[in-house]
Amino acid sequence: MRRLLLFILPILLIVAIGFTIFGIMQIRFTEERLMDDLQKKAKAVDESIEFSARNIFLNNDLKSANRLVESFQKRERLQGCVVYDKDGKILAITERITDWKDKEKAYLAEVAAKKAPRGALEKFRDSSVYSYILPVTDDENNILGMVEVIYDTSYVFTTLTSLWRRLSISLITLLVLIVLIMLLIQRRIFILPVIRLTEWFRHFQRGETDAFHSIREKDELGKLASEVEQVALSLRVARKIVSEKASERLQKEELWTEDKLRDLIHARLGDNAFFVVSNREPYMHVIDEPTGMVNCIRPASGVVTAMHPVLCACGGTWIAHGGGNADKKFVNSKDKLGVPPEDNRYILKRVWLTKEEEDGYYYGFANEGLWPLSHNTHTRPIFREPDWQMYKKVNQKFADSLLEELPVKPPLIFIQDYHFTLLPKMIKEKRPDAIVALFWHIPWPNPENFAICPYHKEILDGMLGCDLIGFHVQNHCNNFLDTANRLLESRVDTERFSVVRSGKETFIRAFPISVNGHISGSKFNVEPIREIEKLKKEYELKDKIVGLGVDRIDYTKGIIERILAIDRFLEKYPQYKKKFVFIQLAAPSRTHIKRYHDLMGEIDELVEKKNWKYLDGNWKPIIYLKRHFSQDEIEPFYMLADICIVSSLHDGMNLVAKEYVAAKKDLTGSLILSQFTGAARELTDAIQINPYSIEEFADAIKLAIEMPPEEKRKRMENMRKVISENNVYRWAGNIITELAALKKV
Ligand code: G6P
Repeated sequence: MRRLLLFILPILLIVAIGFTIFGIMQIRFTEERLMDDLQKKAKAVDESIEFSARNIFLNNDLKSANRLVESFQKRERLQGCVVYDKDGKILAITERITDWKDKEKAYLAEVAAKKAPRGALEKFRDSSVYSYILPVTDDENNILGMVEVIYDTSYVFTTLTSLWRRLSISLITLLVLIVLIMLLIQRRIFILPVIRLTEWFRHFQRGETDAFHSIREKDELGKLASEVEQVALSLRVARKIVSEKASERLQKEELWTEDKLRDLIHARLGDNAFFVVSNREPYMHVIDEPTGMVNCIRPASGVVTAMHPVLCACGGTWIAHGGGNADKKFVNSKDKLGVPPEDNRYILKRVWLTKEEEDGYYYGFANEGLWPLSHNTHTRPIFREPDWQMYKKVNQKFADSLLEELPVKPPLIFIQDYHFTLLPKMIKEKRPDAIVALFWHIPWPNPENFAICPYHKEILDGMLGCDLIGFHVQNHCNNFLDTANRLLESRVDTERFSVVRSGKETFIRAFPISVNGHISGSKFNVEPIREIEKLKKEYELKDKIVGLGVDRIDYTKGIIERILAIDRFLEKYPQYKKKFVFIQLAAPSRTHIKRYHDLMGEIDELVEKKNWKYLDGNWKPIIYLKRHFSQDEIEPFYMLADICIVSSLHDGMNLVAKEYVAAKKDLTGSLILSQFTGAARELTDAIQINPYSIEEFADAIKLAIEMPPEEKRKRMENMRKVISENNVYRWAGNIITELAALKKV
């Protein structure tokens, strides 16, 4: 539109200026003509009465003078006539202009002296009149008196105004006509071809490259389209070659790596596009209020930790809520950006939510309803009807945003977590050919617990739109199958591990999620290292036993129990006072929810209380660092920690446990791990605890400290083996292999 204005405005301006100049000239000319006319008429009238006037002056005949001026009383445009003696004294005046007497008339003396007639516009009764004054002389050219006729000029102005009006109307009509013609021309020669070209690009993007959708433009735009067609052809050929080579390599490689996953995706998916949907985005742009600087942060989220390396390996599009307060500044016109910012490997498409949508869908239904429902932590789930409505609305919003991206070829859509239980069905309704998988990153409760949710039927029905649903552990799969069996009209096939509903089969499988397996420590940024060095100095950590906890502040993480266990440990084993320090990195999370807000307060208070209890000189048992920590910042803490404590009361997997093990390349360190985490199934060499048992927990800390170094090494080695074999590439690879097998992609 702006471009169109830029094009049309100068033309309109030129036409308007030209027309206005023409109009002004026209008006000037008309005005001159009318005034000239007036003057001629006045002169003729004056001259016609000159003879009678001379007699009046010679005979001093005032009666005739009065008769003369009164003869003007009835004329329409002519206003009146005045007879003056030679000194300018009024002898007679037409009645209707008697107030003309009061006017100052300096010109009378001049006319009498020069004995020459004078015509001019004069002010009278707030408007102007035309006065024509004629000196009357005797035969010797002596002045006898003067006769003035006064004409109304208002008709001149009325004529000019109506001329202005006519000219303006013509100008406006002309401008409108020009705009219409320009719009028509623009549309015909520019907009329509661009629309056709855009449409063609859209089909092209979706993979519709057949003759039916070919571009028919002939001129420059046609040439452009044909160039793009050539690039597309080369891309298709290149993709095919990559996919064949990938299949060859795949058969040779054993361990799962980023490259192997990439090969698998190329081999199995070929040019089927890959889409990931999650609530939390992998990168958030956030304004730091005090400095006004924009930071690009990686949110603390298991989903992000696991999915990011997968997307980096295989590319694709990740659709997520744009939750950062500066997110809108960093997207293109389609709300997309390439990430990682410094080395674009995949596309992030941000979906915008209103505050009401975020409140109802995210804080309300997902995190006050489904989250506590799925975790055994005795926090009561809250289900509110308006939250449910918002949850449905936001699921639809994500579905729409995803659907407009889908190409013609069956795409692979990988949905993450409890935020999108309705999405699979919404997608399948519009794109039955899409291959849809959902991974549930948190535990799945037993049927009795799940039935608490008033909307359990719709949720299960929505999820069963999937071709595959993944959980971390077999137990959660079993719970899901039981739930579908008991709460929904469906058939559970215990041999195939699937649920069949309305003829559609959904496979249920366990895929323990993991990390990428190589946290190197070599690529640390300088800043985090500097920060940890400062901490080491301040708390003299060099000769201390360092424990570490890394969590979002969430009631499922058992942070309170952890602090109580540290307290009990120091009470029971006072020899460790001043020797043991526990660092807790705590990222504030979901703080608008009262339960989370209260928990932050409880932890602050408890840390303060226990530190005060044991405070001795510079030593306090707990260093509580409450803020968001980037991956770069956390890694040096992993390297430093002699013990890592993961004490979740219930956790789908817990990737902190795996990250700690992945970071311990030198095989030092011990992991204390809650038996209620998914990770406990795989990391059997961790010191496993029941976080509710504070005594057992305290003893586990002692055990971790006192365990012989050789045993620690052995356990760490075993755990590292598990993680390097079952890394996140295997996790994603297994899911894709499963899908490929099920659907013959
Ligand atoms: C858990 C969920 C994730 C979520 C993460 C962080 O790990 O499974 O889906 O992203 O918590 O929570 P948040 O609400 O901050 O995204």
